[in-house]
Amino acid sequence: MPKRRLCYLALVISFVALFQNAASIDYGAALTKSLLFYEAQRSGKLPPTQRVQWRGDSALTDGKDSGVDLTGGYYDAGDNVKFGFPMAYTVTMLAWSVVEFGPQLRARNELSNALRAIKWGTDYLIKAHVEPNVMYGQVGDGGSDHSCWMRPEDMTTPRTAYKIDEQHPGSDLAAESAAALAAAAIAFQESQPSYSSRLLNHAKQLFDFATKYTGKYHDSIPGAGQFYSSSGFEDELLWAATWLSLATNDKTYSDIVTKSTNFGGTRTMFSWDDKFVGAQILISKGVLEGKFKSENGNLEQAKQYGEEYVCNCMQKGNNNVRKTNGGLLWFQEWNNLQYVTTASFIITTYADILNAAKTTIQCPGGTVGPQDLITFAKSQVDYILGSNPKQMSYMVGIGSNYPKRVHHRGASIVSIKKDPSPVSCQAGFDQWFHRNADNPNVLDGAIVGGPNQSDEYSDERENYQQSETATANIAPFVGVLARFA
Ligand SMILES: *[C@@H]1O[C@H](CO)[C@@H](O)[C@H](O)[C@H]1NC(C)=O
Repeated sequence: MPKRRLCYLALVISFVALFQNAASIDYGAALTKSLLFYEAQRSGKLPPTQRVQWRGDSALTDGKDSGVDLTGGYYDAGDNVKFGFPMAYTVTMLAWSVVEFGPQLRARNELSNALRAIKWGTDYLIKAHVEPNVMYGQVGDGGSDHSCWMRPEDMTTPRTAYKIDEQHPGSDLAAESAAALAAAAIAFQESQPSYSSRLLNHAKQLFDFATKYTGKYHDSIPGAGQFYSSSGFEDELLWAATWLSLATNDKTYSDIVTKSTNFGGTRTMFSWDDKFVGAQILISKGVLEGKFKSENGNLEQAKQYGEEYVCNCMQKGNNNVRKTNGGLLWFQEWNNLQYVTTASFIITTYADILNAAKTTIQCPGGTVGPQDLITFAKSQVDYILGSNPKQMSYMVGIGSNYPKRVHHRGASIVSIKKDPSPVSCQAGFDQWFHRNADNPNVLDGAIVGGPNQSDEYSDERENYQQSETATANIAPFVGVLARFA
């Protein structure tokens, strides 16, 4: 065959392959697995409804040394520490997913699973909030936990509990927890009204605590600083006030939002540390729906900042987010996908908001409408689920080509149900971490850090910047997948 025709044929075949790949993406399966992931991250006594069967009960005495019950909640990532700051944020994003895409979740029969995922977090946050101005913000110690490779079910590492109080404040942690509980209060309003009002009471107290006793939480819980240091708390205060305003319709909170003097400017990313974009988009929605009345036009400013972030993601702004050659938004080397899932959530959500308000965004690079946003968000979702140069799904359990060696203690060691003999701190490294074999347990629904800037990925447990997952990565994707399923 002439060379040119061969080239042409190859081009046609690759187009067909690409199309088939995109057409065969099963968003419904990805949605189901995204919620299963939260069952795999559960700490504490597992309920009879537990579906992820390779996990067992764990950390049943958390909090005991401090005289409180701190069992439950979520292990943060590939480790077994319960980091309160990203955990609260994860719960907020799960709740926002339900608030925005509840009907779609219900239509896919996943609403109750999503509410269970939220409740596993909110039950814990309520327990951790032991007094109006006292909250436990961490169980376990990053240093000692990370120096062992153990299943949660038989870990022997210290489970020290750390708290914030009036003398050791943590406005970011308290306000993020308030945001989580207020957002969850909206998610539960219909199905469990009394639980919803309980959540709201805690949210209000935590918000008061956050505003009266100000400081960064990692100054009060120094061990957290190495892993989840907070860049500031003004974003959490604004975000919490916005959620409380939406949950209560109380003027106290909408006044705080309306009179705010710091809307954060145009952000470069939305993450467990920086919630300004989330607040800006919620405020934009409130403005477009007429819920927030803009005095002096300052809410218009917040809306503009949020839209500038969206424009930059859409490659139509003044400071566009980089993209890989394969088309993935590129924020940073370590755990890039966490920023892609938040961007996808914001863009998908904002598409529906613009659609309802029958309006568009005027970006520096041109007008952007709801359909443009949906098309773009879908390109990111499809990339994550396998439509990419490596033809690999970065969500575990989707298709056949996905990360098999996720940096994750529980998934990489034989299930305690199969082999109950304890795996010690060092044996975990020797026999399981360094083993040249796939993880014995499939961590369905986990989204790993993802490919590097060259769209490359090496599936190795040692490569934690790319092969680790975290609870914060997936929560925004729950809503996005519900929208596309
Ligand atoms: C991406 O990863 C591949 C394979 O692991 C490596 O060869 C390449 O240098 C990396 N690129 C960048 C930009 O880090």
